Amino acid sequence: MYIGVDFYPEHWPRKLWNRYASLMRKANFNVVRLAEFAWVLMEPQEGCFDFAWLDEVLAILKKHDISTILGTPTAVMPAWVARKYPDCLATLKDGRRIEWGVRKNNCFSSPTYRLLSQRITRAMAEHFAAAPNVIGWQTDNEFGDPVCYCDTCRKGFHDWLVNKYKTLEKLNAAWGTHFWGHRFGQWCEIPLPIDPDGANPSLYLDWRRYGSWLNVRFQGEQVQILRECCPRHFITHNFMGLYSELNYYDLAEDLDFVSWDNYPIGGPPGILYHSAAAADLMRGLKRGNFWIMEQTAGASGWGCFNRNPRPGEIRLVAYQQMAHGADAQLWFRWRTCTAGREQYWHGLLGHDGKPLRRYREAARVGAEFKKLARHVEGTTVQAPVAIVYDYESHWALTSQPGYAGNHYPEAILRYYRALFRAGVNADMIQPGQDPTGYRIVIAPDLYILPDDLAKQLCSFVFGGGVLLADCRTGVKDENSLCHERALPGLLSEALGVVIEEYEAVPDGAEYAVQGVGDIVGNFTAIRCCDWVKPRGAQRLAVYQPWHLKDFAAATRYRHGNGTGFYVGTVIRQEEFYDALIACLIQAGRVRPVVKPPAGVEVSLRQGRGGKLLFVMNHTEETKIVHVPPGKVDLLRGTRTAKTLRLARYDIVVLKL
Ligand code: GAL
Repeated sequence: MYIGVDFYPEHWPRKLWNRYASLMRKANFNVVRLAEFAWVLMEPQEGCFDFAWLDEVLAILKKHDISTILGTPTAVMPAWVARKYPDCLATLKDGRRIEWGVRKNNCFSSPTYRLLSQRITRAMAEHFAAAPNVIGWQTDNEFGDPVCYCDTCRKGFHDWLVNKYKTLEKLNAAWGTHFWGHRFGQWCEIPLPIDPDGANPSLYLDWRRYGSWLNVRFQGEQVQILRECCPRHFITHNFMGLYSELNYYDLAEDLDFVSWDNYPIGGPPGILYHSAAAADLMRGLKRGNFWIMEQTAGASGWGCFNRNPRPGEIRLVAYQQMAHGADAQLWFRWRTCTAGREQYWHGLLGHDGKPLRRYREAARVGAEFKKLARHVEGTTVQAPVAIVYDYESHWALTSQPGYAGNHYPEAILRYYRALFRAGVNADMIQPGQDPTGYRIVIAPDLYILPDDLAKQLCSFVFGGGVLLADCRTGVKDENSLCHERALPGLLSEALGVVIEEYEAVPDGAEYAVQGVGDIVGNFTAIRCCDWVKPRGAQRLAVYQPWHLKDFAAATRYRHGNGTGFYVGTVIRQEEFYDALIACLIQAGRVRPVVKPPAGVEVSLRQGRGGKLLFVMNHTEETKIVHVPPGKVDLLRGTRTAKTLRLARYDIVVLKL
């Protein structure tokens, strides 16, 4: 198991390097990421490479038995690149070129930039292939920005469309260009969706697909070189959790494993649902464990800094990721920089360079992870629940949310938070992934629903599975055209409902909803309201306003061994989702090992015959948790009684 830090030796005098490496080793760190912003230091002039400084750093780290990951440095082009080859800079919507000077300025289709990227990647790969303590590579840094509107990107979009549709007739049909007389007679007539709110939604969706593909292609060119020159090294990239601009499944495909950057501490102390969900998505991208390439180490911010992690918080944040499948973690960053934009993005050491509280907490985690390593190795999360996470639905919803405030990740989180509170692990899966083996599949806001996917979800239910869908699931086909059917389209049969009409609940308005049967209580429907007609399904919640008396707000349809749940609205109260998830896990016969009290998270890793239960207190109060008795508490070396006491932010890892 690796634990370490992101280190920028180029920020500090050489005479400190050795002392820093020895402090890292003292904290049990065994890995460091280097060089992802150091292009100009490695290629100060075009074609002249200087790796001597990095060789020196590697040698010092090696002496302290620390392995390294090198970043391909293409997220910041040297100033000479921008000066000599302005076509490398991205073009904004208004046609202006980005002014060089921040980072992530480049156009991903510029042939020059692609060549320069390949050249520095090859030079690094050849130079470091045999370096004894280089173990792997990070491509670029947090792919995503910028979106470029230059002529090369425009032409590239047209070529991409030619490749996809082959003929304009097919494209015109797929995009429904009979509307507003938008029929295209030549490929070059196709515009870029400068105004996503006014553009044809089908065109917009393809533009998003193309933008994602550009990044994947750019990364692929680096990956090919790294594979060729450094076959012993792994290749990864630092993803950004629930970031949505790219199709992360595609970006992950060329890599050995996924890494991600986790910065959950900002607002007031609270339960870290978001980081847990992001971790589950990161695990889902390649269906395997992942690394944390940047882990919160201190207060962060570019202009203003935010809350400082309180004692115990960065330890909790690290354990939460381990509990969800992280096999390695690197704190961001070693020492807080005294120059540049990120002076307030605090590292383990402060501006004064002293190893104080945050360093000591990270060192504690280092020592504990070392102790846990042999138990954790070979284990992963094996969740009974799958949540379908779909970038295409997300993109299509950004141009047409349907109801105001429809935010895709938030729709996922409504159900995710309730699962978390119930103590049930979930996997995020790609649409189309075979759901066999899961007890429950949740598909919220699955707006783009091609027929084959709908049929797969129906078979899952007919085969005994539990499926939940909700408002806006199944509205569109893969071209972002509305299906010519009442909602939820082909899912009707498995869910036992039909929705012929729906409405938005105007801002500030709300509809009273009452639970029925297994869902007890009075709730409030906001934002959106499907007029759900049960067709065999049983009502779990009903609307109170007179015009909705005949319709259901939520339903359950049991047939054979399978069960279909449908939620036609957004409910303000979290208690509603807790009650609903309780119905789902009962229908799926899922039994959590521990029912955690409020504010406590549990997550189970298993494999090689062993099971590890992580119990984590996200609050500042002491919590009492009922656990299986007689189990070894791996950190304390004791055995459990029937209950355990968890101090604020504390963690227990039980061997079940
Ligand atoms: C990350 C990025 C790092 C650093 C950090 C703080 O997103 O990968 O390079 O910039 O944010 O801003």
